Formats: sequence, C-alpha cells, structure tokens
Amino acid sequence: MPATQMGQAQERFDVLIIGSGAAGLTAALHLAPFRRVAIISKGPVDEGSTRYAQGGISAVLDKTDSFDSHVSDTLDAGAGLCEIEAVRRTVAAGPEAIKWLLGLGVPFTREAHEGRSRLHLTREGGHSARRVAHAADATGQAIEEALVETARGQPRIEVFERHLAVDLIVHEMDGQSRVIGAYVQDGETRRVQTVLAPVVILATGGASKVYLYSSNPDGATGDGIAMAWRAGCRVANMEFMQFHPTCLFHPQAKSFLISEAVRGEGGRLLLPDGSRFMPDFDRRGELAPRDIVARAIDHEMKRLGLDCVFLDISHRSPDFVREHFPMIHQRCLEYGFDMTREPLPVVPAAHYTCGGVMVNADGQTDLPGLYAAGEASYTGLHGANRMASNSLLECLVYARSAADHILSDPAPLAPGDLPRPPNWDESRVTDSDEEVVVSHNWDELRRLMWDYVGIVRTRDRLLRAQRRIRVLMEEVHEHYAHYRITPDLIELRNLVVVADIIVKSALERRESRGLHFIRDFPERDATLDGQPTILTPPPQPGQE
Ligand code: FAD
Ligand code: SIN
Repeated sequence: MPATQMGQAQERFDVLIIGSGAAGLTAALHLAPFRRVAIISKGPVDEGSTRYAQGGISAVLDKTDSFDSHVSDTLDAGAGLCEIEAVRRTVAAGPEAIKWLLGLGVPFTREAHEGRSRLHLTREGGHSARRVAHAADATGQAIEEALVETARGQPRIEVFERHLAVDLIVHEMDGQSRVIGAYVQDGETRRVQTVLAPVVILATGGASKVYLYSSNPDGATGDGIAMAWRAGCRVANMEFMQFHPTCLFHPQAKSFLISEAVRGEGGRLLLPDGSRFMPDFDRRGELAPRDIVARAIDHEMKRLGLDCVFLDISHRSPDFVREHFPMIHQRCLEYGFDMTREPLPVVPAAHYTCGGVMVNADGQTDLPGLYAAGEASYTGLHGANRMASNSLLECLVYARSAADHILSDPAPLAPGDLPRPPNWDESRVTDSDEEVVVSHNWDELRRLMWDYVGIVRTRDRLLRAQRRIRVLMEEVHEHYAHYRITPDLIELRNLVVVADIIVKSALERRESRGLHFIRDFPERDATLDGQPTILTPPPQPGQE
C-alpha cells in the first residue's frame, strides 16, 4: 500500500474509494487482486468511527444461537422498518465475515470452554443471545489495524491520507449521467485535484457531528451523504439518528463512550439516590434497545432536573471489570473515575446515522458507477433503530457485495475511456479573512440540532430548526462561492445539507417510531410499517 502524494492534476484509477474505515478498506481488499484502487481519507488512514468501536461485531457463532433469532432481534430493534431481505442476508453472512477477520489476524477475545479455546461472546442491548465477538473493549481498533496492515501489503492499493473529497464529478456518457470521479483537496498543499475513476465507492461514515454532543470522531460530518445528494441520489431514513445512552459526563471527555457491553455484563443504570429506573420503562431493563434506554434516561434527567444518570458495574469483581473493559477502565481513571469502585456519570450523545444514501443489495446507488457502503449508506438493515454491533457487520457484508458486483462486470469501463472534465477553478475566489463565519455557523448548527432535533422532538421545534438551517445554508453557500475552500468550510457545507435532510425527514414522519419520537404524534402508526422515508434531491444548478 504505497502512501502517496498525488502527482498530476488529473489522476486515474479503476476504482476510487472515499473513506478508509471498515467499509472502505474491506471493499479495497476484495478489489485489489483485480483492480487498481485509490483510497482517499481526509485524516490519517486509521481515523474514523471504526477505530473507536468498542462493544464488538455481531454474528451467530454459538450453537445455542440461530440466524432466526438474530434476524428477529434486529427486526424488533428496527421497529417495523427493517427490510427483511437486507436483514436475512446480512445475518447469514455474519459467520463468514468473522472468519475473514480472523484470517486477517484480528485478535478477538477468547475463552476456555470444555478444554478448548473459543471466541468469547458478549451481550448488548436488543440481543437475546450472546453473539457479539469482540477484542476486549477496543474491537474497532483491532479490526482497523488488521485491515490497514493487510492493505499495506497490496501493491495495487494506493492510499492518499489527508485528502478530502469535495464533490463527485458527474458526466454525461452515452446519453446517461454517471460518476467519473471526484474533486479532492490535498490537505497539505490545499490544491484541489481531479481524481478520475469509472467506479467510485462512498465509504465516508456517518453524520453524528451534526449534533453538539456526539460519541463520534470529528470527521463524522456526513460528507458522502451530502455529496451523493448533490449528485442526485436519493437518501432514506435520515430522521433516525441514534443516540447512545451512555457517554461519560465530564467536560473534557468529549462524550467518551461507555460501551453497551458494560450493561451486557451486568451494569445497571441508577438515579442519584441509587435506585434503578430501566425496569419501569422496559421488561428488558438495561438491555432494552438503545432508543428505549436513551429516551428513558432523557425522561428521567428532564423529570428530576439532572445533569446525568449513573452506570454502575462495581458489583462485579475488580478483576472482571479490568479484564473485560481495560481501555474504558483506564480512560475513566484518567478522568478521575474508578469504575471498579463507583458508578460512572453518563449521558446520551449522538452516535449513529441509521439512514443514508440508498443502495441496493449490491451497494449500488441511483447514480451509475457510484456505490456506497458502511454508515454512509442506507441498506434497509437497521430500520428505525440499529441494534448494537450490527454496524461493523453491515460494513463488511455490503462492502464485499459492492466489490463482488464491481468485479462481476464483464466489460468494465477503463479509466482511459473517461472524458477530461474541467479542472477545479479557483480563479474567481480569494482567501477568506472571515473564518469566524465558519466557526460560528458550525457551533450554531450543532447546538440548534441538539436543542431542536434531539431525542424528543416537536413539530414547532423542527420548523424552527428548518428556518434557521435555511439561513445558515445561504450563508455557507455565499462563503463557498466567494472564498477559497478550507476543510472546515467543506465539512460545514456538508453538515448543513445533512441537517436539512434530517429535519425534512423528521417532518415527513407523522408518527413516533424507533429513534424518532415526536410529541405531536406520540404513537406508532401501523399503516407506516415497512415505509422508509425516502427523499429525492431537487435538481442542482446545471442539472435541470
Ligand atoms: P468510518 O469508520 O467512520 O470511516 C469513514 C472514513 O471516511 C474515514 O476514513 C474518513 O476519514 C473518511 N472520510 C469521510 N469524509 C471524507 C471526505 N470528504 N474525503 C475523504 N475521506 C473522507 N459499531 C458496531 O458494530 N460495534 C461497535 O462496537 C461500535 N462501537 C462504536 C463506538 C464508537 C465510539 C463509535 C463512534 C461508533 C461505534 N460503532 C460500533 C459504529 C461503527 O463503528 C461505525 O458505524 C462504523 O465503524 C462505520 O464504518 P465506516 O467504514 O462506514 O466509516
Ligand atoms: C458500544 O460498544 O456500546 C457501541 C456498540 C455499537 O454502537 O454498536
């Protein structure tokens, strides 16, 4: 995997992959024996949500478990909106995906059983069985490291770190619009290059940074979703933004996640007086699906005027806690909390984008040549609420399907057959001397999304948010048209698009279901079962 600077103003590859998390790297590894692949990543190659995944990856791996049970739990968490075929095929591919990761050397935690060693499986919310394979409490890091390491050995994969995709390039070929590449900004030189490829895969992750408090790394700004939208692709179910119930409540911790596996191994949610409250909300208690737990915490915090609730696993032995949660234990110690002895203060924070760019079973979007995989995509797997640890599985399964589909093309377009689009034109822009516009609007957007489009919504608040977002959109557009682009401006431009889509989707759904709870329509409407919210972008300038 040569780590490269781009040399020419126009580079050409067989496949351009935008994003180097679980989805992007998996697709690259399946493609690399047969195609020349470029991966671009806006940060270091291993930066993205994948690296921070804690709990694990779900798959049916124990003989007391079954595909039917994993399917049924996923459908139950998804609250009537999962697409059954997507669920069945993802679940069925689970064991093979784990085998593939083991083959790459992922050091999953093992346990002794009847004289033999086997994978230790943990539990998380919504799962009726132990089916989450994990590498202690830092599963994502173990997976990302193995993927990066394997990719390094592939001469046909070129990685461009700190390169930011700005927009897709769409071109008319043989009477049909198709993607032919992307404009990409080199983070060092700030030069915008043209990268051409007949196939582009969006693997850009989610958009949880649209909220003020989020468990996600800074790059989770929905770039792929916004780029696909501008290129004319439909997106679905964007009202279903998932809030993780338990992030550490500490001013410096940046919503550090306390894995659901802590509850899976017996952790209890407590009020300040030490009483449990989850059993009053759901018979599954702390292991109810995430939407239910996050809403219960939000309810209790508002009812009692609390800053946080508490997560307690101190009834388990200190050795058990240290062995199962070494990374979380260590990080909490750094913030002054010893989870072996005391409850941790926790609050919900934005965690996962259940909706995304619509794809079919092969990962194809609406635009010929463009695929999407991982958190940026909408496959139908998660419905109205993703079940814990189904996301990494989805990344692996759909990235592989996309790669298989790309390789099955009997007469693929060659990069040399692509036309030469115009290079990025900076002749009419100058450097901005008003960066405060970007930083102010970024803060304002994230705060208004938190306050008006959070765990509990109302139509009034959504409409208020919509009006504000429109103003921000105009200002960002104005800035984009007149000034040289910066990474912050590009991300903000994408965030306002995504925020607008989230609010529009939330206004369209006139019921409460899964992660979308709106006071004006507090009940689930059975006539909307199986009906995702699908939005089609308006024609962009030049597309009419
Ligand atoms: P990411 O891993 O987020 O990668 C996105 C990539 O796209 C990055 O390389 C980024 O640099 C790049 N990128 C984005 N925009 C651009 C652009 N414009 N130009 C160039 N590059 C770009 N899921 C589970 O199943 N199990 C878990 O235990 C679990 N724990 C989690 C814990 C935390 C703290 C978090 C944040 C998430 C967790 N999740 C978990 C969710 C899961 O980690 C993610 O959904 C999944 O890793 C997403 O993978 P991805 O490949 O789609 O995107
Ligand atoms: C966690 O470990 O709680 C995160 C799991 C997930 O998001 O799937």
